[in-house]
Amino acid sequence: MSVALIVLAAGQGTRMNSDLPKVLHKLGGAPLFLHALAATDPIEPARRIVVVGHGGDAVASAATRQDPEIEIARQEQQLGTGHAVAQAMPLLDGFEGRVIVVFGDTPFIRPETLQSLASAHADVTVLGFEAEDPARYGRLVTSEAGLDRIVEWKDATEAERAIRLCNSGVLAADARLLADLVAGLSNDNAAGEYYLTDVPAAARARGLSAEVVLCDEAETLGINTRAELARAEALFQAAARSRAMEDGVTLTAPETVFFALDTAIGRDAIVGPNVIFGPGVTVESGAEIKGFCHLEGCHISRGASVGPFARLRPGAELAEDVHVGNFVEVKNSQLDEGVKVGHLTYLGDAHVGEHTNIGAGTVTCNYDGVLKHRTEIGPRAFIGSDTMLVAPVKVGAGALTASGSVITQDVPDAALAVARARQVTKPGLAARLFEKLRAAKARRAKKD
Ligand code: UD1
Ligand code: CA
Repeated sequence: MSVALIVLAAGQGTRMNSDLPKVLHKLGGAPLFLHALAATDPIEPARRIVVVGHGGDAVASAATRQDPEIEIARQEQQLGTGHAVAQAMPLLDGFEGRVIVVFGDTPFIRPETLQSLASAHADVTVLGFEAEDPARYGRLVTSEAGLDRIVEWKDATEAERAIRLCNSGVLAADARLLADLVAGLSNDNAAGEYYLTDVPAAARARGLSAEVVLCDEAETLGINTRAELARAEALFQAAARSRAMEDGVTLTAPETVFFALDTAIGRDAIVGPNVIFGPGVTVESGAEIKGFCHLEGCHISRGASVGPFARLRPGAELAEDVHVGNFVEVKNSQLDEGVKVGHLTYLGDAHVGEHTNIGAGTVTCNYDGVLKHRTEIGPRAFIGSDTMLVAPVKVGAGALTASGSVITQDVPDAALAVARARQVTKPGLAARLFEKLRAAKARRAKKD
């Protein structure tokens, strides 16, 4: 059966005490709401709708950056979770299938759990959990007939508050039924909001079925404060480290390695201590990332080695067996097979041909203060230490630049380019100079 997903992400998140909407705060390098969205990937929803409100444009653009096909529904005023869902339903007019509603601030929901919701048979299915401390969660009131209703903490009696079966917020129902039920909600309750949680009782009143599917409490963890965000980050990282090791990645000091939501690392890759993966990093099998590297938006191929202390920025493409050593920064540059950049170098907006060697201290001068320019270096070239490559510039195949050169003109294939002042050597001059200086120092000491 086809599934449509609705992610509620319109709330402000007052307790974050932030100008940024809550769902845009980062967890594992990705906006919070993208986690719940990613968890739905395995069920391949036919439609995905994000309901935005606070900071709506920013949330909408983060969503469409992730997936251009995501649809956006706007909720101008936050009148409750039921009202939020009602804003999305017109987009699903004519959609045949089930709708699953998830919250943007609940990142740990598992794909398997969503799968069991998608295939549940009741007319309305709610994801519930046994809470260690039920606190202010909505309570699930059940009987032999299934789920009778959900009562919000604010509206609950003492007896209802004693129930430990709680509402995660995730709900699934037939699309047409859900549209109908949210349209009929009232806001006659303690919060004066249109509660999505009134949907199961409304279904039951029509003689339809409502049931609970259970999940682990850890999956329902919602983020409301910065402290909760920090705890969630620790949980996310712990899970990501275990997953990487299960996938056959060696982590020398797992607790010091930080992953992003979309980090992909191949089997038998080795990651040293204190490595940070920002968003968009892929590492192929057998590559090695030595300690203290910072990687973002880059691809590292099989057999390549990076670091220690290397920084790969967005658009760094390392082909097989490339070596990038210490204190090297690479941005928006393609390094072909076997390229070696051992030390103290900046490569930006460059293409380096296979088996070229880049000497220590080489810098692509890619920015003139207004525009960025490209540097093209051919295969099997040798860039001498401390070469400044003033872009736009090309160095041909098998060419050589002398150490300390400032290369401002193209260097043809197989040519040697020297672009530095010629050396002048004066015999004995150093000794005489030092003698003079020492004498001056002695005279000054006498005077004082
Ligand atoms: C909700 C449930 C509660 C459940 C709890 C689980 C309701 C009425 N209550 O309460 O039963 O135990 O989650 O965490 O559903 N949102 C909008 N528009 C709105 C209101 C909320 O988009 O008008 C979004 C928020 O951004 C958030 C989500 O819906 O992502 C949940 O809203 P929130 O106000 O946090 O609900 P809770 O009070 O936690
Ligand atoms: Ca909440």
